[in-house]
Amino acid sequence: MADDTTPLNKYITLPKVELHRHLEGSLRLSTMLDIARKHGVTVPVSMLNLSGLVQVQDKDPLTFSNFLEKFKTLRLFYKSPDVIHRVTREAVEDAARDNVRYLELRFTPVALSRAEGFPLHDVMDWVITSAGEAAKDFNIKVGLIASVNRHESPELAEQVAWLAVEHQKRGLRGLDLAGNEAEFKSAPFHEIFKEAKGSGLRVTIHAGEWGPAENVRDAIENLGAERIGHGVRVLEDESITALAKERGTTFEVCVTSNFQSGVVNELEKHPLPRMLEKGLKVTINTDDPSVSRITLSNEVQLTHEKLNVSMDTLKKSVILAAESSFLPEAEKGELVRSLKSELAV
Ligand code: ADE
Ligand code: ZN
Repeated sequence: MADDTTPLNKYITLPKVELHRHLEGSLRLSTMLDIARKHGVTVPVSMLNLSGLVQVQDKDPLTFSNFLEKFKTLRLFYKSPDVIHRVTREAVEDAARDNVRYLELRFTPVALSRAEGFPLHDVMDWVITSAGEAAKDFNIKVGLIASVNRHESPELAEQVAWLAVEHQKRGLRGLDLAGNEAEFKSAPFHEIFKEAKGSGLRVTIHAGEWGPAENVRDAIENLGAERIGHGVRVLEDESITALAKERGTTFEVCVTSNFQSGVVNELEKHPLPRMLEKGLKVTINTDDPSVSRITLSNEVQLTHEKLNVSMDTLKKSVILAAESSFLPEAEKGELVRSLKSELAV
């Protein structure tokens, strides 16, 4: 959710499922200002100036480096356990207010721990506890995924993966590889992801976003990805498109994020409709609602009104997202059944 001034969107009435949302890209601007004032974070304390540092602006260059730059400033805000509790709670609340019924929220323990040197273990515990409490309070189902970045050390990633395995019983469901795909290979992470998967964690990988289709193949074959974050460049290679189809890989597509980070030059030419035509499994996601100043309802609207995807297909993609979730089978079955009946799909 962008901030408290975001206008309501009529697609809010559609019950939704989101598989790809980063906690660190979900901070309300008003909360950031509050934290900056209370904790003396050295950033501008006027909304307008702060927004430029942490949210994509119309005048910004539409590049992945500009997009990733926002997360450097965002790392300054995680000043106390209370802050991490608050931002987690608000991220869940904002999803619930947008009529998201199941949110798979990913968070980057290394990012949250950096400003104050919090132990990774503590950070993970705080997010899990706060997300669980918020899920109850706001009547939404929440699953968690731990993210590690390609541009950061594999040693840290290994620690995060190990902690994630340890926290599976508390609702930590998966591991994600994010970060600078344009300049960093996944090879240093292959073993970590294989072991994590062997220990029961589910795997989703950012690939084919700022890197070529080949990275989608790499994610499926070498990292054990069941889902691909973005993956829109898969269409550049027919054999990799066929591989994803054969494996039943689900794509977590984030249209506005792709436009803002330079993956596509024109929103209207986004490859999502062509991915659907090819028979790929496509879901609709926000990626970083605050950085992009969007809601999931906005993304549904955009996909329907600008990319001409029918509401029937969009309803089916909600069911598909539920089916592709990392929930345990019984809980997943219940979610799918209730959404099917509500959406009459
Ligand atoms: N971290 C946050 N948003 C991301 C994106 N779109 N790609 C890779 N890493 C990210
Ligand atoms: Zn992402």
